[in-house]
Amino acid sequence: MMLEIGKLKIDPPVILSSLSGISDLAFRTISRRFGCPFAFYEMFDYNSILRKNKRTFEIQMKTNDTDKPLGAQLLGNDPEALLETALVLQEKGIDLIDINSACPVKKVLKRKCGAYLLKDTHVFGLIIKKLANGLRIPVSVKIRTGSYTANKSINALEVSKIAEGSGAKAIFIHGRTAEQKYNGQVSYETISAVKKAVKIPVIASGDIFSGPSAKKMFDETGCDGILVARGALGNPWIFSEIKHYLEKGTVLPPPTMEEIKNVSIDHLKMSVELHDERIGIYRMRKLFCRYFSNFPGAKHIRTELTKLTTVKDIMDFLIYELMLP
Ligand SMILES: Cc1cc2nc3c(=O)[nH]c(=O)nc-3n(C[C@H](O)[C@H](O)[C@H](O)COP(=O)(O)O)c2cc1C
Repeated sequence: MMLEIGKLKIDPPVILSSLSGISDLAFRTISRRFGCPFAFYEMFDYNSILRKNKRTFEIQMKTNDTDKPLGAQLLGNDPEALLETALVLQEKGIDLIDINSACPVKKVLKRKCGAYLLKDTHVFGLIIKKLANGLRIPVSVKIRTGSYTANKSINALEVSKIAEGSGAKAIFIHGRTAEQKYNGQVSYETISAVKKAVKIPVIASGDIFSGPSAKKMFDETGCDGILVARGALGNPWIFSEIKHYLEKGTVLPPPTMEEIKNVSIDHLKMSVELHDERIGIYRMRKLFCRYFSNFPGAKHIRTELTKLTTVKDIMDFLIYELMLP
């Protein structure tokens, strides 16, 4: 199975989502180690690029030769400014630009960005047209099934056709409304209807936490690819698990405690190198909670880890606490 977006070939057809506050170079490097074939930067707000924010350029934009292919998702509603931003990223060698039309956060909706664009389909179309005409690299959109759960605002079909007609080369769709945020059932029916309504690839998102749930998404919707989000938090093994399950139909054994310890320590070191010790550890705290879950004694490990403030203390704790008999 292979996903093709313009000239990009993604095999297996599994993509790591843009994850705000999470998908930095350290996170992407760990995900790629386990076979993630395409990853996104953390979402860029165009203001931070156009105003040449130092942190955005020196840390958020940091990448390397093995961190490829790589996509960038943009938040905004001004076609001109979005194109200007996308051109900066295209110059840096990015492979795909995605327009966020899915973020349900109140302050984003207030700025008429993110999922607000599902209601303002005129501006939505203008943005895609502007970028599709102005860039060499493919442009995609990330949408939800609609704004509200009431039937008349489930407009993913209409929005997808506008995206395709305006020049988008792929559609990412989270199978929930903006109102649902991350709760409630994923609508496989809506994703399936979108897949039937457009010719460009449809990449489906929602509750992909394992090989079987990945397969279910393909089977239920006929989608061309899937987007992994929460399932990758503290669980980079999900990429090898999904690949194995799609190919062989069997579930790989979970990682051993030794593997979890080693990978999480590598992740911590990269996070601290990218940011600094304070921010690197702060960002890792929520991921440690995911790395260390679902086994006896995990709660104690998580509680202790939130108290430690240096890499040395965290490593000493993990090595001592998880010492194999
Ligand atoms: C911590 C976190 C950050 C996210 N950041 C973004 C983002 O920047 N852009 C985006 O399009 N979606 C973002 N999402 C949404 C995911 O792409 C995805 O659509 C959603 O989580 C549903 O998939 P899941 O059930 O597999 O997590 C984020 C989700 C989480 C949990």
